[in-house]
Amino acid sequence: AKLSVREALGAQNTSGERIKVQGWIRSVRSQKEVLFLHVNDGSSLESLQIVADSSLDSRELTFGSSVEIQGQLIKSPSKRQNVELKAEKIKVIGNCDAKAFPIKYKERHPLEYLRQYPHFRCRTNVLGSILRIRSEATAAIHSFFKDSGFVHIHTPIITSNDSEGAGELFQLEPSGKLKLPEKNFFNVPAFLTVSGQLHLEVMSGAFTQVFTFGPTFRAENSQSRRHLAEFYMVEAEISFVDSLQDLMQVIEELFKATAMMVLSNCPEDVELCHKFIAPGQKDRLEHMLKNNFLIISYTEAVEILKQASQNFTFTPEWGVDLQTEHEKYLVKHCGNIPVFVINYPLAIKPFYMRDNEDGPQHTVAAVDLLVPGVGELFGGGLREERYHFLEERLARSGLTEVYQWYLDLRRFGSVPHGGFGMGFERYLQCILGVDNIKDVIPFPRFPHSCLL
Ligand code: 4AD
Ligand code: MG
Repeated sequence: AKLSVREALGAQNTSGERIKVQGWIRSVRSQKEVLFLHVNDGSSLESLQIVADSSLDSRELTFGSSVEIQGQLIKSPSKRQNVELKAEKIKVIGNCDAKAFPIKYKERHPLEYLRQYPHFRCRTNVLGSILRIRSEATAAIHSFFKDSGFVHIHTPIITSNDSEGAGELFQLEPSGKLKLPEKNFFNVPAFLTVSGQLHLEVMSGAFTQVFTFGPTFRAENSQSRRHLAEFYMVEAEISFVDSLQDLMQVIEELFKATAMMVLSNCPEDVELCHKFIAPGQKDRLEHMLKNNFLIISYTEAVEILKQASQNFTFTPEWGVDLQTEHEKYLVKHCGNIPVFVINYPLAIKPFYMRDNEDGPQHTVAAVDLLVPGVGELFGGGLREERYHFLEERLARSGLTEVYQWYLDLRRFGSVPHGGFGMGFERYLQCILGVDNIKDVIPFPRFPHSCLL
C-alpha cells in the first residue's frame, strides 16, 4: 500500500507490513552498516526514518532529492520515533544538487532569506508548519460558520464598487491585460475587490447570516509588516443584529474557536512556530484565549493615548484615526488582551456605518478589534439600515447614483444588521507570533514585489 508519511508514522501495524512512501530527502546519515534517511512529504512536520543497507549506492541520495521507497514498516528500536521503514528498494525520482539548492541541509535560514525563494521555502520545517496551520485555520473558520448556521457566499473578485471609499483599489485597465472579449466589456470601470461586504449585505437580506472568505486587494503603498496588496479576508454579515455587543460576541468566539481548533489539530506545527519564531508566544496565546476581550470606546482610547502622547510620533487627537503605534500601545495598556474599540467619529469611517446620533462628538457604531503584535485585526460595525439617514450620507459623499441598489436594500424589507471583516494573515500572525505578514502567505504580493 502507498502511505503518506503521516499515515506511516501513525501506523498501528508495525509487524513488517510492506508499504510504499514518496517524498523528499531531509537528511542522510551513513553509519558503518546502515544508512539512515529522513523523508518528508509535507503531510506532517515529522519525517519518516528510512533504514537502508549501507551497501546501497547512496551517491544520488542527496538532501532535497525526491524519492520513492518500498519496504517494511517496523517498530523502531530508537526512542525518537515509533516506527521506521526498512527499505527494500529506493528509487530516486528527481535528484537535487544540494550544493546549488538555496535551502541548505541542517541550516536554520532566517525567514527573510527564505522570502527570496517562495518556490522552495515551503520545503522547510518552519514554512511547512505555517502553511499547514494556515490550511487548518481555513478549515476551522469554515466549520465555525457552518456550525453557527451561516451560509457561505462567494462574493465577486471583480467589482464595480469601492466600498471602503479610500480609492485604494486596483483598476483593471481596458488594455487587454485582463483578456476580455471586447474592449469595454463591463461598460463601467471594474476593480479588484477591496471587500465583499456590500455583496454580503445583499445576501444577508435573504439568508440572515452569511460569510465569505476569499482574496481581497488593496493598492496600499505600504511596506509595513502587516500590509499586503493581496490578502485573504474573512467577512460575516448578520441580519436582525442591533447591538455591537452581539457582533463582538461572534468576533470573540470566532477568534477563540479557530485558535482552539488549530491547537488541537496541529499541535506539533504550532509548537515549532512558537519555539523557533516567537519564544514566549505559547503563553501569550493562552493569555488571549483564557481572558475575556476588553471593550473601550474610541473617546476613552484617545484619552488613554493623550496621557502617553510623549511615546508617539503622531499626536493622538479626537477625530483622527488611530495609528499603528497607538493601537499597539492600547493593547499593551490593556494587559496584552485583545481589546475592542467602539464608536468611532462619523467623519473618519465609511458611509455605511450606523449613525449613533450622539450630539457634537458625532460617532458611528463601528468596532475594531486590536490584538497583541498586530494592532487592528477586525473591522466592522452596525450598518446604516435607515433609508433617510443613508440617503443623506450618500448624497453628502456624492455617491447616490452608484449606490442606488444599496439604498434600495433599505427600501424593500430593510433590517438592522451588522458585520465585520478579519484579515486572515494578521490572524495567523497574531496566534503564531509571526512578525512579518509576508511569512504567513504562500506567495506574498506587496509594492515592488510579485515573485512567481
Ligand atoms: O478594516 P477593513 O478595511 O474593513 C473592511 O474592509 C470592511 N468592509 C470589513 C467588513 O466589515 N466586512 O479591513 C478588514 C481587516 C482589517 O482589520 C485588517 O485585519 C485586514 O482586513 N486588512 C489587511 N490585511 C492585510 N493587508 C492589508 N493591506 C489589509 N487591509 C486590511
Ligand atoms: Mg479597518
